[in-house]
Amino acid sequence: MSALSVFDKVEQGPPDAVFGIVDRFNKATAEWKALPTSDPKAADEFKPINIIVGAYRDENGKPWVLPTVRQIEKEMAEDPALEHEYLPITGLKTFIPAAQKLMFGEEKPTFASVQVLSGTGAIYTGFSFLKNHVNCTKVIGPTPTWPNHPSCAKTAGLEYGSYPYYDNAKNSIVWDQLIESLEKAEANTVVLLHACAHNPTGMDPTNAQWEQLADLFTKRATTSPLIPFFDCAYQGYASGDVEKDAFAVRLFTSRGLPVIVAHSFSKSMGLYGERCGCLHIACSSADAVKRVTSQLSIFIRATYSNPPGHGAKIATKLLSEPAKYDSWLKDLNVMTARLHAMRTKLREGLEKAQKESGAASVQNRDWTHITTQTGMFSFTGLTKDECAYMEKEHKVFLTPNGRISIAGLNDSNVERVAKCMIDSIIKCQ
Ligand SMILES: Cc1ncc(COP(=O)(O)O)c(C=O)c1O
Repeated sequence: MSALSVFDKVEQGPPDAVFGIVDRFNKATAEWKALPTSDPKAADEFKPINIIVGAYRDENGKPWVLPTVRQIEKEMAEDPALEHEYLPITGLKTFIPAAQKLMFGEEKPTFASVQVLSGTGAIYTGFSFLKNHVNCTKVIGPTPTWPNHPSCAKTAGLEYGSYPYYDNAKNSIVWDQLIESLEKAEANTVVLLHACAHNPTGMDPTNAQWEQLADLFTKRATTSPLIPFFDCAYQGYASGDVEKDAFAVRLFTSRGLPVIVAHSFSKSMGLYGERCGCLHIACSSADAVKRVTSQLSIFIRATYSNPPGHGAKIATKLLSEPAKYDSWLKDLNVMTARLHAMRTKLREGLEKAQKESGAASVQNRDWTHITTQTGMFSFTGLTKDECAYMEKEHKVFLTPNGRISIAGLNDSNVERVAKCMIDSIIKCQ
């Protein structure tokens, strides 16, 4: 028996819910590219389409480096003082106050904040902290949610449960059920909330609903507290305004609740692979901040030692220099305006395609939700079978819950996606 057989019993794990589909898309694209030009299937209209991943794409379907970020990178490259030393365990010192100001505004909150490996790193570090240092055993998140939420909770050793959030058939938030469920949640439950641009549904509570929710948390705070854990991965993507998108976090903070925020800069600054993010934990005093930070430092030191510098250096410059900040807000606007335009075109395409199909079964289908939802995604309402049909027959790749990344749409493919959606609905009946 080979000495290497010690690993033979390791079981194959399932592919990642999102990146597994990207692998299939990449395979289909390679096969399409390998077709001889004489093959009718080599035509552009059969080219696989990726509307899976939540990463911004420009009008040509290409990754977009924000012009402000590009400018900062040029300046950094020419800066003789730039070095690549280790950052402190808790991250770049100047990054922390800049991230806090973006999240909480001018008000100076008492927060233990550490730079972490983007949104995912913030969620995992935050969950691990709650498991190891606070009396928490369970997280509950909305149904549906980002599939990595339960994985992060379980990996951190927390039990994961859910609360009702969305009615797929009615395309709306099930507010009364949500409130009822949170009223009944056990004390010390960590309640995962999407700060804005809910993924995958694109439907956020109204400000009045956030107030109602803050009332619920406040009412329970002294007798049977809940921990509000905000996942803020899309600041600026919901309303196009970073201040408005911070409404819920700032509201809960102003109530003196034990707010935790996983603050990602991946989408808002296009710094995906640079893993730039911040974990903020509300504390009651400067002394508590010191103690909480000490525990976070010990955890970070033992897991990845210290965070990467490049993204944090960019984000700090962008947030601290007024001209750069204004220029970034314009970049954000370019992205949100394009997403908005694509939503409108998709909805128009769907309405046109269903009319032209002549199929009685789809004539009354309502697509209003495509334009009322916000953020990077649309929760189309397509069923699992319809999504599978889209992939198999049309080579349009999306997640099986019917979520599509609006950022993957552009003028060259939006009409085709709309037609394929209508065709899949008709064929799967
Ligand atoms: C809801 C939500 N939270 C967190 C993240 C984390 O992203 P990252 O780790 O790249 O910052 C994502 C990314 O897709 C997301 O959609």
